[in-house]
Amino acid sequence: MADSAGGQARGAQAAPLRIGIAGLGTVGAGLVKLLRGNETIVAARAGRPIAITAVAARDRTRDRGVDLSGVTWHDDAVALATDPDVDVVVELIGGAEGVARRLVTTALEAGRPVVTANKALIAVHGAELAALAERTGVPLMFEAAVAGGIPAIKTVREGLAADRLTRVGGILNGTCNYIMTAMRESGRPFADVLAEAQALGYAEADPSTDVDGIDAAHKLAILAGLAFGRPVAFASVHVEGIRGIDALDLDFARALGYRIKLLGLARRREDGVEARVHPCLVPEKSPIAQVDGVFNAVVVEGAFVGRLMLEGRGAGEGPTATAVAADLIDIARGSAVPVWGRSADGLTQIEALPRAAFHEEYYLRLNVHDRPGVIADVTAVLRDHGVSLRSMLQHGRAEPAPEDGTAGGDPSVPLVLVTHRTRESAMLEALGRIAALSVVIGTPAMIRIDPG
Ligand SMILES: NC(=O)c1ccc[n+]([C@@H]2O[C@H](COP(=O)([O-])OP(=O)(O)OC[C@H]3O[C@@H](n4cnc5c(N)ncnc54)[C@H](OP(=O)(O)O)[C@@H]3O)[C@@H](O)[C@H]2O)c1
Repeated sequence: MADSAGGQARGAQAAPLRIGIAGLGTVGAGLVKLLRGNETIVAARAGRPIAITAVAARDRTRDRGVDLSGVTWHDDAVALATDPDVDVVVELIGGAEGVARRLVTTALEAGRPVVTANKALIAVHGAELAALAERTGVPLMFEAAVAGGIPAIKTVREGLAADRLTRVGGILNGTCNYIMTAMRESGRPFADVLAEAQALGYAEADPSTDVDGIDAAHKLAILAGLAFGRPVAFASVHVEGIRGIDALDLDFARALGYRIKLLGLARRREDGVEARVHPCLVPEKSPIAQVDGVFNAVVVEGAFVGRLMLEGRGAGEGPTATAVAADLIDIARGSAVPVWGRSADGLTQIEALPRAAFHEEYYLRLNVHDRPGVIADVTAVLRDHGVSLRSMLQHGRAEPAPEDGTAGGDPSVPLVLVTHRTRESAMLEALGRIAALSVVIGTPAMIRIDPG
């Protein structure tokens, strides 16, 4: 206790760290509330107070639920980078380009530390920004950019710094996890659940960045870069979202002992690095299968540390502001680590391996005509491509075909096949031929299976 009181007294006496916050939306306003609400704790842990001296946003008249009297307002956010009363620039606007990128670049060029929550910016421009930060000798911190309140960056970059990490990823988008959980629990289709998530504020009006997997891919690219010590070229990350997941697949997955999750997966292999985001079947008893609703989970594996999983809230003003403030406390104390965990000098981006090189078990769901010989036709194609089957599920049709042979009822039945591990290139070739079979109706669904 005495120590903490002494720390608070010292913290209160030292010169404050003056910050300028660009963007006063969910995260920016949340940061103001956190720094004010926990002022004493923050000062004690930072060794000095953290004072908000300047802000920028678009609309000066908007009520943000925080008192900004005495704080300088900039209409041009980039002006924060050169404001003489700002020691650290906090970028909470968002977007890989535009004002956010200009502000961060200008601040780093001016030798001013930057804290950002902007995953798109770091995923796309992290390599060049790291080089710039190293050249000018200032910290560039982004704990809030991955999995909000989960200290994922610190864990991977600092906590596990001594180990050779082999795998990193997890459930990196709360909106998708919420939608898939609700689909599984209610049996409702994607579109209904998405509309509900939008009404509840869990999904944006334009949900594409989330449901098409882009947001998770930004976070995965950052995690992969930290885990493997080299930034991964964002364009090379293989990305599939959740729009194609049918409630039927969630039911079949359950029958097979799995749940479906949108996962980010990065693996170090002998021949390169895999970095991908797509739905996966995971065993229903695995820890990651239990992470439901808006929660995120970050999974890391290393040769010495083994496997660990962190679970928590990946978004929202409280969790995200906590992560931003943690970076500010590090800067106030003078502790900083290189952006990618090692010197950026000479670090070039690596390309992730193409999908043809993936090697997984696969779940396939086909809609087939309910007639003899169909299974033999499908399995013959798989055999031709060296794909062997582990299990199969076939449900009879709800409405039997008329006995007189006339057309009637729904002519198709779902056929579900689970393969042994195989190369994705072989799977894709087989799938192309299967889709063209006259007994197959519509487009087959293919979902990868992960051990969890
Ligand atoms: N929300 C989360 O839970 C979460 C979690 C992790 C990371 N992040 C990241 O945090 C960042 C901010 O997200 P957010 O959810 O707080 O966004 P937001 O609620 O949409 O807020 C964005 C803020 O930026 C301001 N802004 C937009 N364009 C601007 C411009 N040209 N000049 C100055 N200000 C501008 C807006 O001003 P007005 O208010 O005047 O319109 C608003 O205050 C993003 O990079 C996001 O990816 C968010």
